[in-house]
Amino acid sequence: MSYEYIYKPSTVEHAPTLLLLHGTGGTENDLLDVANFIDPNANILSLRGNEPEGPYNRFFKRHGEGNLDVENLKFHAQDLYNFIDEMAEAIGFDRDKVVPIGYSNGANIAGGMLHMFDNPFKGAILLHAMVPFETDNMPNLSKTPVFIGAGSNDPIVATSESENLTKALESAGATVTLHWENYGHSLSMPELQAAKGWYASAV
Ligand code: MLT
Repeated sequence: MSYEYIYKPSTVEHAPTLLLLHGTGGTENDLLDVANFIDPNANILSLRGNEPEGPYNRFFKRHGEGNLDVENLKFHAQDLYNFIDEMAEAIGFDRDKVVPIGYSNGANIAGGMLHMFDNPFKGAILLHAMVPFETDNMPNLSKTPVFIGAGSNDPIVATSESENLTKALESAGATVTLHWENYGHSLSMPELQAAKGWYASAV
C-alpha cells in the first residue's frame, strides 16, 4: 500500500532520516516541528496513516482504545517496512540511517517493526507506545537504541505497558532509555528535550 507523505531533504550530505508517524487522527504535518527540534539537519519522511478509522487516520486497525488488532498491525508493519526500503531506493536517502519518531498509534507501528525485523532502524523514538504484541521470537536489536517517552499518569498506556515494552526490547539486545513525565498521554517539552538529548548521544 502507498502512503501520502512529505519528504524534506536535508542540506547536509549523508544525514539521518527521521521517519515521522503520527497518532490516531493525525496527519503527516503533526510531528514536523518535533523533528525539526530533535535534529534540524535530518532528512524528514513523514507519513499519513493509510488505515482510516472513520475520519481518523491510523497506521493499523484496533478493536477499541488500547485494544490493538495484532494481525492487522503485523500486516501494516511489514508493508511499512517495505515502503521505507522502496522510498530509500527511489529518493536516495541512506536506509541504514532511518530513525522513526512515533507518537501513540505511530509509536505502536514503529514498535511493531521493532518486534519483527533485525535492527530495522539506526535508533527509534517511541512516544507513548504500548507493547505491540507479545512474542518469544524477538529479532536482534543490538544495534538499535530506543528512547521511550512515557507518562506516569497516561490514561491510555499503563505504566506496566511502558515497562514491559522496555523489557521486550532489552531482551532483543536493544539499549533502551525509558523516560517518565506526568503529562498523561500528551507530548511535553521536557519529554522532547530528553528525546533530543538521547538522540544527540545515541544516534
Ligand atoms: C493504538 O490504537 O495504537 C493505541 O490505542 C493508541 C491510540 O489510540 O492511537
